[in-house]
Amino acid sequence: MDSNEGIFFSDELMQEIKDRFYYVDSDLDNRERLYFDNAGGSFRLKKAVEQFSKIDSIPDNPERIHQTALFLQEMQETGTADIRTILNANGGTVFCALTASAAMFDMVRAIAENIRGGNMVTTVLEHPSAYDAMTYYANKLGKELRVAKSDPVTGGVDVEEIAKLVDRDTCLLNVMYASNISGAKLDIENIVKRCREINPDLYILVDAVQHAPHGVIDLKKTPVDGINLAPYKFFGCRGSGISWLSDRASILPHHKLGGKKVGFWDLGSAAPWQFSVVTEIVDYVCWLGGKFMDSGERRELFVCGMNRIALHERALLSRMLNGTAEVAGLRRLNGAKVFLDYADLSKRDLIVAIGIDHLDHIQAVREYEKRGVVVYERAASSIYSKRMLESFNMDGAVRISPLHCNSAQDIDKFLQITAQLCEMN
Ligand SMILES: Cc1ncc(COP(=O)(O)O)c(C=O)c1O
Repeated sequence: MDSNEGIFFSDELMQEIKDRFYYVDSDLDNRERLYFDNAGGSFRLKKAVEQFSKIDSIPDNPERIHQTALFLQEMQETGTADIRTILNANGGTVFCALTASAAMFDMVRAIAENIRGGNMVTTVLEHPSAYDAMTYYANKLGKELRVAKSDPVTGGVDVEEIAKLVDRDTCLLNVMYASNISGAKLDIENIVKRCREINPDLYILVDAVQHAPHGVIDLKKTPVDGINLAPYKFFGCRGSGISWLSDRASILPHHKLGGKKVGFWDLGSAAPWQFSVVTEIVDYVCWLGGKFMDSGERRELFVCGMNRIALHERALLSRMLNGTAEVAGLRRLNGAKVFLDYADLSKRDLIVAIGIDHLDHIQAVREYEKRGVVVYERAASSIYSKRMLESFNMDGAVRISPLHCNSAQDIDKFLQITAQLCEMN
């Protein structure tokens, strides 16, 4: 099943999937379009948006004894269990913030301020939410910040590049699951293993915002101390950043109301819809898994659903790069360039960085938009791209990020439009 070329969903299932999401084939004015910027905000599940609105319309405070409050409490418990299902996490603390960035700053602060060690390690590819949090607390606490280099061949960061920066004096390693520039997945399992061989007590944080919607996360195999994701990039809604902390990290001193339990992290009243949106995401992925296996076990169905998403996305990625007999793929399209291209697609999430030879990246994004395609320019002038692009010696790129809700035909259409851009000159 695990083919390097991936496996497409059947046409029938593809249609069922598209029907479950908003705006997959058209924009809010009902104009046909290809939305290929899911790394900036993913297609929304209709049911997640319905739950968001339904639950947020309830005025009741969940911290009461009334019937509706009890209903909300139960929903929060289910959502919390579902976050553990996504991560395969036991114990620890689930923590809901308004954004993934806010949660990351809080997690970094607790570890950096309370764990001994003269240095902190991260990678050059981190999103500013992790990189800047590490820089801020390293400066504030007088610790050395060590930054692992990227690998222009894989588009990621190699295990040994990280491991060689870790020693017995490292207080925290902060590393992302996958790059939101190249789509390269980092080998988190081996990073955790290698770095804990060097420093068995090492605290590790992982930014899974980019990777979570594309593949299985398994904290049993990658026992880290904190991990975050963003539902709005994972078929859900904006205004929510979800994290999980290990038992030992959760009890470190952190901002909290004094009367709450020592491992409690929510600051103020978390919105109950955050939990029900997560449950909708997990229900959906389990529904998808149920198309391929029979199981009464939620995590098993979830894993099957995520693996199928990954396989379909790999098939889309392969189609985009290699094309078909009728449509030229990006790799052989004259006038287009694939940056950080890598042969083994099993090491990639569905993100591609490209350039159109005679168009600068912003112009290319505009030309795509005129033809009904939404993509994103990663410019070296942007705080969200500069450091990562420079590490690859790139001045920018057009980022293409479809989702498993897209079909092979969507990719073909994108390739035809890309060919038009290449011929524009
Ligand atoms: C890899 C990665 N990490 C963290 C974040 C931060 O998410 P938010 O802006 O929701 O806090 C983003 C958002 O773009 C991201 O792509």
